[in-house]
Amino acid sequence: MSPFASITQSAPPSDWVERAERVLAPTYARPARVFVSGEGSTLVDEDGRRYLDMTSGVAVNALGHGSPVVADALRDAADGLIHTSNLFHTRPAARLAELLVEHSFADRVFFCNSGAESVEGAIKFAIVHGGPQRKKVVAFRGSFHGRTLGALSSTDMPAHHSTFGQATHRTFAPFNDDAAIQEVDESTCAVIVEPIQGEGGVRSADPAWLGRLRQRCSEVGALLIFDEVQTGLGRTGKLWAHEWYDVTPDIMTVAKPLAGGLPMGAVLMTEAVAASLRPGLHATTFGGGPLVASVGARVVEHIAAGEFLADVRAKASFLREQLGALRPHVAEVRGKGLLVGLRLSLPGVEHPAKAVVSTAFDLGLLLVAARDDVVRLIPALNVTREELETAVERLALTLERVASER
Ligand SMILES: Cc1ncc(COP(=O)(O)O)c(C=O)c1O
Repeated sequence: MSPFASITQSAPPSDWVERAERVLAPTYARPARVFVSGEGSTLVDEDGRRYLDMTSGVAVNALGHGSPVVADALRDAADGLIHTSNLFHTRPAARLAELLVEHSFADRVFFCNSGAESVEGAIKFAIVHGGPQRKKVVAFRGSFHGRTLGALSSTDMPAHHSTFGQATHRTFAPFNDDAAIQEVDESTCAVIVEPIQGEGGVRSADPAWLGRLRQRCSEVGALLIFDEVQTGLGRTGKLWAHEWYDVTPDIMTVAKPLAGGLPMGAVLMTEAVAASLRPGLHATTFGGGPLVASVGARVVEHIAAGEFLADVRAKASFLREQLGALRPHVAEVRGKGLLVGLRLSLPGVEHPAKAVVSTAFDLGLLLVAARDDVVRLIPALNVTREELETAVERLALTLERVASER
């Protein structure tokens, strides 16, 4: 019997749970446990219970908890400049941008602080590049690009409103469907797409379709934006998920694992996109600060190494073989590399993903839901084979339990 069998039933919520629930905005539904430490793919709660973390902070902790790479980078950076603002140059931002350029299609980089902010930046750059005639942004059904709501629209900068307020026409086109290609026309400034939709249920773009989308964007002069906030930086076993597709964007958004758990985002772009930008057009106070950028540079150097990515691919194959054991409760294994989506088949279970995540938690396994019937395994990229094996064992137990309780 697992030591986690009855956490939620028998253990009273700690004082900290009550304190947190009293003062934090009620925007999240968290389990009644408090995490206090972690190492690699293990998180430890206040009572010393250990959980196998297959969430890695929703694809952020790519190097696991307590990573020496991140800790050393932080220690080294702590003695230097923490922040200067973007009024001035500092070395770490330049170094990190050099690394990103060296390891991608891009020529230039804009730094920000989150995934949503990188998407905002990407769309703004595409609007500027497209000029006043291009009012349309094409996005896809099932997409997820963040949750910000136009701070600029409440900012009293009329010149910016006239530049950016024009692209008001959002079209949601069907993913992996050629009807979407027809939506892209001469009035389109940007097409934004995740090579693998993460939050939308771990749905991979069809390679040929993505190629046709690229071709259509080039024909009509629209920019293709790949949102690699979740898929980027080694998650799929290549540095960028789009490398599996052999299709290159004009702009790419990156965030989650970029600075080893510190908040950081980036917009990568070609020289042609950068050529339409000028000082004052877009800015952010914290973006690319020396502390985060120093850590980011170490993380990117570490992940971009060929042997690291080969290891991710090998472990991903190992995991995917193991997952075959979860049939019939898993109808489909989706995704690429260590971004794994399991489409559940649990007839009679209401909100199956939620039920599985909650039961797995009780059994000491941390998972993330994606839509109602898909759970994700997004382990740290340096997870071990033994940990993956244990995760699958606990998942099998979880599925049996959820199925038997329906
Ligand atoms: C593909 C994608 N884009 C953007 C975002 C938003 O990132 P953030 O939560 O850092 O704003 C996410 C978050 O999950 C994401 O998966």
